[in-house]
Amino acid sequence: MKDIVSPAKNLACMTEPWAGSSRKLQVAIDGPAGSGKSTVAKRVARALGYLYLDTGAMYRALAVTAMERGISLDHHDALGEMSRLVKIDVRDEDGLFRVWVDGKELTDKLRGSRTDQAVKVLAMVKPVREALVSLQRAMADSGGVVMEGRDITSVVMPRAEVKVFLTAKPRERARRRWQQMQQHGMDVPWEVVLGDLVSRDNKDLERDWGKLVRVEDAVVVDTSGKTIDETCVEILALCEARAACCTD
Ligand code: CDP
Repeated sequence: MKDIVSPAKNLACMTEPWAGSSRKLQVAIDGPAGSGKSTVAKRVARALGYLYLDTGAMYRALAVTAMERGISLDHHDALGEMSRLVKIDVRDEDGLFRVWVDGKELTDKLRGSRTDQAVKVLAMVKPVREALVSLQRAMADSGGVVMEGRDITSVVMPRAEVKVFLTAKPRERARRRWQQMQQHGMDVPWEVVLGDLVSRDNKDLERDWGKLVRVEDAVVVDTSGKTIDETCVEILALCEARAACCTD
């Protein structure tokens, strides 16, 4: 076996990309809201020296664009056309996943209750999903990518070498979300956050297209009671094992 530099062992210093293997993997991570996908996927990508793609942010950027352009969320054909015609650029920079649509940066507008409401509806629109899925596949084509979302293991990269279903107990996910909101000065009762999370879970699980499913060959990683580092080490170990078996 080649002398592979272990990214799992190097997590603490994470400045060195994983240079030991020439094989660039596709790493697909799906999971419900609040499971820690964004934080974990971003750190795993950095440890591997891979591209990080937050597909939720791409759906959010299209929701913002539709609102700014006055396109009704009921008008599926117009939403599909908009999604096919716009140019979406993304960059993971200084810990921030930045998104531009037709040259206009929307990063600051991706979070917030209007976008939260709009994206839930827009993510159910088939032509929108088709446009984003084909863009995401093109971005992942040459490997060396960690992509996270809801339909990555099932639809976008069904042949990814590493597939992870990241989850945590609903109460734990709601607690994390509540804490984040408190930090941003949003004083919402915990029960409301939990209720919203459960309703979002249902929407993610029940929609016709791109629903959150656990594919058979995905490794389930439950982040309840684990630190971010522990979770990252677990996923990096899966990547290491796959890279080792591919290069032998
Ligand atoms: O961070 P949070 O879990 O709140 O949401 P997100 O990951 O930013 O996703 C925003 C919305 O896009 C949610 O309604 C997801 O269901 C949807 N989404 C999707 O349909 N497919 C993806 N691949 C990623 C997100």
